[in-house]
Amino acid sequence: MDAIRYYLNTINIDGTIVIGEGEKDEAPMLYNGEKVGTGNGPKVDIAIDPVEGTTLLANGMPNSIATIALAEEGTMLKPGSSFYMQKIVVQERAKDAIDITKSPTENLIQIAKCLNKNVNELTIFVLDRPRHDNLIQELRTLGVRILLNAHGDVSGAVAASLPDTEVDVLMGIGGTPEAIIAAAAVKSVNGGMQCQWAPQSDYERDRMLIEGTALQQVLSLDDLISSDNTFFAATGITSSTFLRGVQFKANRIVTTQSIVMRSRSGTIRYIDGIHNLNKKLSGQSLPLF
Ligand code: FBP
Repeated sequence: MDAIRYYLNTINIDGTIVIGEGEKDEAPMLYNGEKVGTGNGPKVDIAIDPVEGTTLLANGMPNSIATIALAEEGTMLKPGSSFYMQKIVVQERAKDAIDITKSPTENLIQIAKCLNKNVNELTIFVLDRPRHDNLIQELRTLGVRILLNAHGDVSGAVAASLPDTEVDVLMGIGGTPEAIIAAAAVKSVNGGMQCQWAPQSDYERDRMLIEGTALQQVLSLDDLISSDNTFFAATGITSSTFLRGVQFKANRIVTTQSIVMRSRSGTIRYIDGIHNLNKKLSGQSLPLF
């Protein structure tokens, strides 16, 4: 967080953190409403998760990324008191097939048709949580392949939105901030995404009702981020289906891989970094990445 915050403040943007390391994780920095950037340049909303998949990283498991999303000021959904959302994400070819108000089975039959696959050839990313017991049972009955992941549904959503990964669909309930970050990536590839509020406690539900949230609302991609000019970037910390993680080579050489996606142009860039820590750390209080 220190490094991200330091370098964000060198960029010519007038940025506001809309989604930071907020209340859920009780983290003190990059808080919601914090101003970042030099103050010159475009006014932007920023959603950031310095370590998406903290436990994955701690345990050396796949799918942990450092990630950030930007969009024009005032265009990102403010999560309010919502911590959790029901999500479905697919690539462009299947985007007209999804309807989060219908059952997983109905969705997957339509998605399979669009992808020219049999239903049992689909691969679904699901967070491994007791709240998904019924969903997992339904998926097993259908015979689809299930990628049960302990954490990291931003990685799952990005993988589902890209055409050539092993993930066809992301389904289930995950974090609201993660949904908004993922939306910036899904927009860049014209993927399909729908969400529904899914409060997981009376506390969360009651606060959302006080804020006047319509709990049954179906949220489209445009509801998550209304701008058509979004940026998404992620760097692999541990490896995932679409990014290689940080690797420490001999002689203090470190390699990284990042993806940068922009919705207006649709450009996707993969950036391979080869960092020489002998140079970067010499006399610097923060590494010069
Ligand atoms: P962090 O590591 O960034 O806290 O989040 C990990 C994560 O698994 C997200 O990918 C997911 O959206 C959310 O947590 C799910 O929340 P929970 O672990 O409470 O079910």
